[in-house]
Amino acid sequence: MADYDYDVLVIGAGPGGYVGAIRAAQLGLKTACAEGRETLGGTCLNVGCIPSKALLHASEYFEAAKGGAMAKMGIKVTPELDLDVMQGQRKDAVSGLTGGIEFLFKKNKVDWLKGYAQFKDAHTVEVAGKTYTAKNVVIATGSSVTPLPGVEIDNAKGVVVDSTGALELSAVPKKMVVIGGGVIGLELGSVWRRLGAEVTVVEFLDQLLPGMDMDVRKEASKIFKKQGMTLKLSTKVTGVEVKGKKAKVTVEPSKGGDAEVLDADVVLVAIGRRPNVDGLGLDKIGLELNQRGQIETDHDFATKVDGVWAIGDVIPGPMLAHKAEDEGLAVAENIAGLTGIVNHDVIPGVVYTQPEIAGVGLTEEAAKERGAVKVGKFPMLANSRAKTNHEPDGFVKVIADAETDRVLGVWCIASVAGTMIAQAAQAMEFGATSEDIAYTCHAHPTHSEAIKEAAMAVTGKPIHI
Ligand code: FAD
Ligand code: NAI
Repeated sequence: MADYDYDVLVIGAGPGGYVGAIRAAQLGLKTACAEGRETLGGTCLNVGCIPSKALLHASEYFEAAKGGAMAKMGIKVTPELDLDVMQGQRKDAVSGLTGGIEFLFKKNKVDWLKGYAQFKDAHTVEVAGKTYTAKNVVIATGSSVTPLPGVEIDNAKGVVVDSTGALELSAVPKKMVVIGGGVIGLELGSVWRRLGAEVTVVEFLDQLLPGMDMDVRKEASKIFKKQGMTLKLSTKVTGVEVKGKKAKVTVEPSKGGDAEVLDADVVLVAIGRRPNVDGLGLDKIGLELNQRGQIETDHDFATKVDGVWAIGDVIPGPMLAHKAEDEGLAVAENIAGLTGIVNHDVIPGVVYTQPEIAGVGLTEEAAKERGAVKVGKFPMLANSRAKTNHEPDGFVKVIADAETDRVLGVWCIASVAGTMIAQAAQAMEFGATSEDIAYTCHAHPTHSEAIKEAAMAVTGKPIHI
């Protein structure tokens, strides 16, 4: 060890990198973390999970007041939007949490190397003109927005923006066109729709939210349409023309056909994200990328290059903060000689719209490809708490192996689906059967009872439908 400055040098302080660095330090390893941004926390804390949830939360209150949901419960208000204040509380949420990571670094004695890191060799990294050596280097550089060829994003101008620009709009657009009906498009599209924008989502595929269970995708489309979003499915964008503060978006059917022009004050490009690998100097250490531009690792998160590891959005798997965090924990434990494992079969995914949309494990389609399944469904309309709270939309679906009854996947659309899905993930992690869930006592009245009833429905015995 004496030969190296650090036992562990992590590149990138997002949820993967900062968690990995803190755990490595907790395990007694001398640790540094290089981060080029002005604040720690990566995409998630600075321009992703946290600011988007701050706006989703605030805009939900606005809509509840404006759209009549509060009046239905006897609370009469006439809300007025103060976007500056709403944006201010978003910034406060971000600075509070990013500052918190800086505090945790100090507390755990993780050195923050300020600047973008570049490999000189597998154990030497340059940051802001200085070189540092480390026995282990963890690449946790995350991801950035995938550009749409021919469409120039200019967040400062605020007409054609990516998710970062869409978080920072200083006025509610009259018309917003969202390119991509995935997680970002639906979350940020919901924010601006609730605040008054006419939102049109243009999605290349025939349904929103690829990768999710088909029942969920179809139900989501119905709900978003009911909420007033215009959905243009099976549609592709062929051009965006910006004139001053307005844009014209030309679209046509994905398979070809007549073009249509959509007017927009803001165009949000949200067609996916791609790994951050440019400028890292991977050629200097002989590390190649796979066809999707990702760094491949084995199940320990070791790359093919001895002493170099990788985690988070830069490696294959869902681009989610909690996946990155768990990989951060695991890689630190593996470097320390312990056994760090991430079960990639049980990673929940949540779309924080209203209702929330969540799932863990296999879709019904994927499960059926593996063998016979039993499926139980329960509508939120029949859940007493959801009904009482005026939240009738959605359902829970439990998919179990037909022979063993082991739970293979759980999908929820419900106001608090993101919270409900945790119990499904835990059950699956423990190898539960649908019967195990059905016979677990759930508190009443809770939305989670819908998971119990959907599990009961797997064998045909729900009570409330
Ligand atoms: P990142 O968080 O991307 O962090 C990587 C860091 O590395 C960055 O800070 C970058 O500056 C730094 N870096 C890159 N290259 C270098 C270098 N050479 N030297 C030094 N530093 C470098 N996920 C969820 O689970 N839940 C959500 O609600 C959610 N909402 C999201 C909303 C939006 C709008 C977006 C864009 C993403 C959202 N995500 C969400 C995804 C989530 O943000 C990512 O999956 C997560 O941040 C990935 O963590 P990471 O540590 O791999 O990388
Ligand atoms: P995404 O992969 O979720 O969705 C992109 C959508 O764009 C897909 O539906 C795709 O079919 C469509 N698309 C691709 N090219 C297109 C084109 N040319 N025209 C029209 N549609 C096109 O990607 P998104 O929404 O950009 O999010 C990126 C990542 O960030 C995701 O992987 C997600 O996991 C993560 N994220 C997670 C959140 C959460 O956990 N709540 C919130 C926001 C982002």
